[in-house]
Amino acid sequence: MNILILGSGGRECAFAWKFAQSNKIEKLFIAPGNAGTTKYGTNLPLDLNDFYEVKKAVLQNNIEMVIVGPEDPLVNGIHDFFLLDEALKNIPVIGPQKHAAQLEGSKEFAKKFMVRHNIPTAKYQSFTKKTLQKGFKFLETLEAPYVLKADGLAAGKGVLILNDLQEAKNELEQMLTYEKFGNASTKVVIEEFLDGIEMSTFVLTDGKDYVIFPNAKDYKRIGEGDKGLNTGGMGAISPVPFADDVLLTKIEERVIKPTIDGLKKDDIPYVGFIFIGLIKVKNEPLVIEYNVRMGDPETEVVIPRIKSDFVDLFIATAEKKLDKFKLEIDQRSATTVMLVSGGYPESYEKGKEITGIEEVEDSIIFQAGTALKNEKIITSGGRVIAVTSYGDNFREALAQSYKSIDKIKFDKMTYRKDIGFDL
Ligand code: AMP
Ligand code: GLY
Repeated sequence: MNILILGSGGRECAFAWKFAQSNKIEKLFIAPGNAGTTKYGTNLPLDLNDFYEVKKAVLQNNIEMVIVGPEDPLVNGIHDFFLLDEALKNIPVIGPQKHAAQLEGSKEFAKKFMVRHNIPTAKYQSFTKKTLQKGFKFLETLEAPYVLKADGLAAGKGVLILNDLQEAKNELEQMLTYEKFGNASTKVVIEEFLDGIEMSTFVLTDGKDYVIFPNAKDYKRIGEGDKGLNTGGMGAISPVPFADDVLLTKIEERVIKPTIDGLKKDDIPYVGFIFIGLIKVKNEPLVIEYNVRMGDPETEVVIPRIKSDFVDLFIATAEKKLDKFKLEIDQRSATTVMLVSGGYPESYEKGKEITGIEEVEDSIIFQAGTALKNEKIITSGGRVIAVTSYGDNFREALAQSYKSIDKIKFDKMTYRKDIGFDL
């Protein structure tokens, strides 16, 4: 089978690594991919939001299935585009259509969905420029900290957590009146602050049934001890040590099943991943957010723990036969540590030569922000490489990741040395 993976990060590198292990793959393409994905398939230099360009590449290369990595082509309707096109309509796309992608594309849509289907989440209200004064009043009824969320996609920056009421009011005004996050903040969700520990669960659904992928916990802040600016993610661990059977059963019964059933009741077709961000408050799981894709760097620990063949898995998904699919999972722990460019998530330099990747033997290297120049691997983004290892527990796996990192070098390379510190 010829498969195209859309995206260019560590997540897509992990997908490519896994697909390349299947003997059912004829040709694997990654668009646009990175230096790492060239080991597993052919990179195609495509703009993922130019669907005509994607169409041309799909037809030229006889692609038989498309796996969408990031959210924006989904929110922009790539799946709908395929369904409406005579030449593409029979080529399965793994990733939801535009309407369902609103679960990630609009915080208000997601909150309404959760309330409608009795899925546990923080209490909330949403406001626009016209209802700013009501927003101020609502903030006054809450206790600090105050959680403000831009409704739309804001590149992971749209959530503000503020300790001071006046500051929260100012920020609300900045978001609504002065469009602090552009169009994304013409509506703002204000919600109750939840105090607990976070984890994520990943579900692959064919719209009828689902399989649950290994769970994971990521580390989003740039600084050790979870301090400093938010990033795309600095490391991850799977499985989550505190997610015992009791909690996992609650997650499946109270969150996953009502989510899949809710989509059916609302007549929202869905083929693809649902990444559910959870917070455990007094042993109860509450939903913080939905994403309509896999997480990055969570994918770099989740996929290495899946033993089943990926071509079989996605054919079963496309054919709506997930009820008969038994996902096989590796019982070992996996950890990943992200190597990032100095300065990230603020400004940083690119084009630094990376050495030592070939010397790593006991970890898996998933490249993210890398490119090839004169046959050398250079940095081309903030998050550069994810170093994944296995172990009997997460501490053992982490020790291996850190040992492997010692072999890799590039100018101003930075990483967190305390992944898992809170467990
Ligand atoms: P989101 O984009 O909705 O996942 O929010 C980004 C981050 O903000 C989450 O990963 C949490 O750490 C934090 N957060 C979001 N909502 C809440 C909440 N209601 N209570 C506490 N923390 C939250
Ligand atoms: N690591 C968080 C995300 O992918 O959204």
